Amino acid sequence: MKLKGRVAIVTGAAGGIGRASANLFAKEGARVTLVDVKKEALDETLALIQKEGGDARISLTDVGVEEQVKDCVDETVRGWGRVDILFNNAGIVLVKFLEDTSEREWDRLMSVNLKSIFLGVKHVVPHMRRQGGGVILSTASISSFGGQFKTPAYVASKGAVMLLTRSLAMDYGADSIRVNCICPGITYTPMLEEHLEASGDPEGVLKQRLTRVPLGQVLTPEDIARGALYLVSDDSKGVTGIAHVVDGGITAGFEYDRAWTQPPRAGKH
Ligand SMILES: NC(=O)c1ccc[n+]([C@@H]2O[C@H](COP(=O)([O-])OP(=O)(O)OC[C@H]3O[C@@H](n4cnc5c(N)ncnc54)[C@H](O)[C@@H]3O)[C@@H](O)[C@H]2O)c1
Repeated sequence: MKLKGRVAIVTGAAGGIGRASANLFAKEGARVTLVDVKKEALDETLALIQKEGGDARISLTDVGVEEQVKDCVDETVRGWGRVDILFNNAGIVLVKFLEDTSEREWDRLMSVNLKSIFLGVKHVVPHMRRQGGGVILSTASISSFGGQFKTPAYVASKGAVMLLTRSLAMDYGADSIRVNCICPGITYTPMLEEHLEASGDPEGVLKQRLTRVPLGQVLTPEDIARGALYLVSDDSKGVTGIAHVVDGGITAGFEYDRAWTQPPRAGKH
């Protein structure tokens, strides 16, 4: 077991990548605080983990509200005596041109995708320092590296997550706190469904997007969870400040004409 004895906080644990990661961390021996704003879906994640013999608790916390984040961290430490891993994974997408975006929408997106990391890190670092170290992981995106159509606020937030990660890695290395981010490509989750639905042609858009993916398939939340496990376990003991890409190869090149050379095909891992 790679995380035996460790205590983890995973945000956005009600579904998608957060649920798969929390489940995997628990299987690897971690006790996990499951954070989200969706009570019913959080309960489902908890049941899933407990069914497999894992140890977890839920925390209904809005990751953009400081008081709630502080309470969540304090309760975790009160309950289990420590916090070794913070996985800042909660996120939202907004498929809108900039001029159609309201100030409220912009602020909400930045609050969930970026301010959440500021708040989480602010409140776990004193505990980690006292313990002699810890690991912080945040979910960035392939959108951290370049623009994407009709999602300017989202792309701006994910670019910032990557540079915040690098900066924090520099600040906290001396405390033996490692800070990294993971950059998923096209991953099958409720967020992807929402993103595709907003296009008006989910199947067509997905098919077109997959022409840019060398591995030719949509990733699963479990694919990303395995990358996250690497970054929060001692397997990555010497690694800090990186953006770990798990994207089926989409950022490997600039060629978008795969359809011309080779049609996408359903493959197996
Ligand atoms: N799915 C993809 O293709 C993809 C690609 C790149 C990056 N990502 C990133 O992966 C992360 C996880 O997303 P996902 O794809 O699993 O989608 P998801 O919608 O299944 O999960 C996101 C979770 O965050 C929670 N959340 C939203 N606002 C919150 C708040 N204020 N407080 C607490 N929790 C909140 C949601 O309730 C949801 O359960 C996000 O940061 C997303 O930007 C996803």
